[in-house]
Amino acid sequence: MSKSSKNILVTGGAGYVGSHIVEQLIKNKESVIILDNLVTGYERLINKKAKFIKADIKNKSNMTKIIKDYNINSIIHLAAYLNISEAEKNKRKYYTNNITGTMNLLEACKNSNVKNIIFSSSCSVYGNVKGSVSENRKPNPQGYYGYTKFKGEELIKKLSLKYNLKYGILRYFNVAGASNSGKIGEIETSHGHLIKNLAIRSLEKKPKVKIFGNNYKTKDGTCIRDYIHISDLADIHIKGLKYLNNNKKSFVLNCGYGKGYSVQQIVNIFKKIKKGVEIQYQKRRPGDIAQVYANTKKFKKILRWKPKYNDIKLIIKSAISWEKKLDY
Ligand SMILES: NC(=O)c1ccc[n+]([C@@H]2O[C@H](COP(=O)([O-])OP(=O)(O)OC[C@H]3O[C@@H](n4cnc5c(N)ncnc54)[C@H](O)[C@@H]3O)[C@@H](O)[C@H]2O)c1
Repeated sequence: MSKSSKNILVTGGAGYVGSHIVEQLIKNKESVIILDNLVTGYERLINKKAKFIKADIKNKSNMTKIIKDYNINSIIHLAAYLNISEAEKNKRKYYTNNITGTMNLLEACKNSNVKNIIFSSSCSVYGNVKGSVSENRKPNPQGYYGYTKFKGEELIKKLSLKYNLKYGILRYFNVAGASNSGKIGEIETSHGHLIKNLAIRSLEKKPKVKIFGNNYKTKDGTCIRDYIHISDLADIHIKGLKYLNNNKKSFVLNCGYGKGYSVQQIVNIFKKIKKGVEIQYQKRRPGDIAQVYANTKKFKKILRWKPKYNDIKLIIKSAISWEKKLDY
């Protein structure tokens, strides 16, 4: 690990989103430290060119030591639990990990060389919106997972001011697909992500696909979401960090393509790729909202960014190709 002043700490860097960010940082020859307790992360996703530390963000004194020892300049903070249904049932677990963990990490930046922090937030902070939503909208999370992300944002804003950090809050919409490198993709199956589930089902002879709720107030009764390809999302972090370094201005940005697809539409595309699919309609999942997609105006203006993979078929196909490579 270099003694350079540009060391980047990626919490949750052995997870799905984190591994894709690390892959791009390493490609750009950045010096990266991955911190992960491997609770839903995987050794297979750890980039060999990064330094890996198995640690937990809940351990504040250890976090303080790591930030000092590795002379961290920027943090990309992804470590969190993210199962929407589990969060409703086990609020304490989510509070401790997502809220207290984030607070520990920020407190550990006190008297350190950390200048920037990027935080993985979620469109779930908006709550029950109808259609397009911009960053100006007042957060009103409905589920507990969304609440932990909203509280995380508040802590980032408050403590960044206190410790003189610049922050970038990125509100991800639905993330899917896998890197073109073929080396990394989503492994964890517990998060209940639609496209990941379809990719798993694609390996079966006669796949049964569950749709949770078909009586929402949407065009076909199923939930509407904005799906963003993982490599585009990772690229946004790289551009976001560059922006913080160059402009020294904090930001809150939506990360989506600005287009919503219903679950039914996604499943219909899947049915064209995979024959013999049976759909099973189930009752709604607690915490799910009817529809949300990103207003991307601010985003395009600030980062001057253009997506490379905004094609829903390509996203689904890339998730399926990755799934074929996985040997559980
Ligand atoms: N994937 C999505 O669609 C999506 C959407 C919105 C927001 N997000 C946010 O993006 C981030 C990354 O999500 P992901 O999809 O890569 O999930 P993931 O489960 O693959 O990654 C999370 C990583 O954090 C690690 N982790 C969890 N708690 C930890 C702790 N206390 N200490 C150290 N490491 C810990 C896990 O082991 C895992 O590697 C999360 O903060 C999540 O809330 C994801």
